[in-house]
Amino acid sequence: MEATSQATKIAVLKERAMGEHRVAATPETVKKFIALGASVAVESGAGASASIADNDYRAVGAEILAQSPAQGADIILGIQGPDAALLAGANPGAWIVASLDPFMQRERVDAYAAAGFEALAMEFMPRITRAQSMDILSSQSNLAGYKAVIVAADLYGRAFPMMMTAAGTVSAAKVFVMGVGVAGLQAIATARRLGGQVSATDVRSATKEQIQSLGAKPIFVENVAGIEGEGAGGYATEMSPEYQAAQAELVSSHIAKQDIVITTALIPGRAAPRLVTDAQIATMKPGSVIFDLAVSQGGNVEGSVADQVVEKHGVKIVGYSNTATHLAADASALFSRNLFNFLSAFWDKEAGKPVLDEEIGNAVRLTQGGKVVNERLLG
Ligand code: NAI
Repeated sequence: MEATSQATKIAVLKERAMGEHRVAATPETVKKFIALGASVAVESGAGASASIADNDYRAVGAEILAQSPAQGADIILGIQGPDAALLAGANPGAWIVASLDPFMQRERVDAYAAAGFEALAMEFMPRITRAQSMDILSSQSNLAGYKAVIVAADLYGRAFPMMMTAAGTVSAAKVFVMGVGVAGLQAIATARRLGGQVSATDVRSATKEQIQSLGAKPIFVENVAGIEGEGAGGYATEMSPEYQAAQAELVSSHIAKQDIVITTALIPGRAAPRLVTDAQIATMKPGSVIFDLAVSQGGNVEGSVADQVVEKHGVKIVGYSNTATHLAADASALFSRNLFNFLSAFWDKEAGKPVLDEEIGNAVRLTQGGKVVNERLLG
């Protein structure tokens, strides 16, 4: 961003991606940006699918633009990365602050560099304590974990809680959560709240206690070579072949007794690990439901297809390509706060704009001075 004598101008674009209902700023965050001294322009209709009207933004001091939303902008906020063509008229060196999907959208990143923009990928936010409130992966995964259970409960032809009625007893649904990161923890909590009987597994042994503290039963591979589980930044690592075989055996015996399975397992920079095979699905009771939260990263479940309910052996398999967008209002509120927390933490009062430090700046910055500069993209 170049120093300007005028207030830093923030533009909020309407999302263009199919099925994307979220918006990157809410009236709450717009008001806070204006309080910092920025001016905010919102593209007309940007909040409509997250239940925010143009007038709600206007009421807190935003300008509503029907055309050329990025004109004169220093910072462009998005949920997903906008096409560079939409950013015509933005100031030289303007920041693009969004979830930019840098590995899959490399051409778009190159176009940002060519246009002289500074693209900041919010999913590259380091998982350090001071950045927790800026972490879009956590805020959106938490909602996704909740939604997965709600969708599975809806597709399930039985009830979740045990009910003792005059007509007889309805037994509690058995729910198995595979992968206990942010999404998995929320899935456990949600399934418990609905009255399910919950068990869960992960490769990181640190999650065992977390599972128990939520009132669920841990299902873990024990005494097998290669249980290292936890890698850099608290993320999972790829497991040894011995471990994978032991895990498959353990899952096979457990899964046949489950009614609902929620899978959330991811390994950074790799395709999602395959956790449930077709043969295992065949052992489940007809009417059971599997929600594959990793479906857009290759899927944890054999046969899962993004945004479709696939039926195999009488078991419904479902997974959304973008789960958080199905809770657009809450997801927008949290995402927007993440962006505000990020920019305001670095707001330099004298400069009247944010100035990043090295640790976070180097982690999230993809492009600068006409080039791609992020280590993870250069490697
Ligand atoms: P993720 O979305 O990358 O993966 C989801 C879960 O799947 C993880 O718990 C992972 O261990 C598990 N998994 C991977 N391979 C598996 C396999 N083969 N079988 C079973 N489970 C498997 O993880 P997420 O939710 O992004 O969190 C990862 C870690 O980062 C957690 O320890 C979390 O507490 C930590 N974290 C730290 C933050 C901070 O300090 N700012 C913020 C958010 C998360």
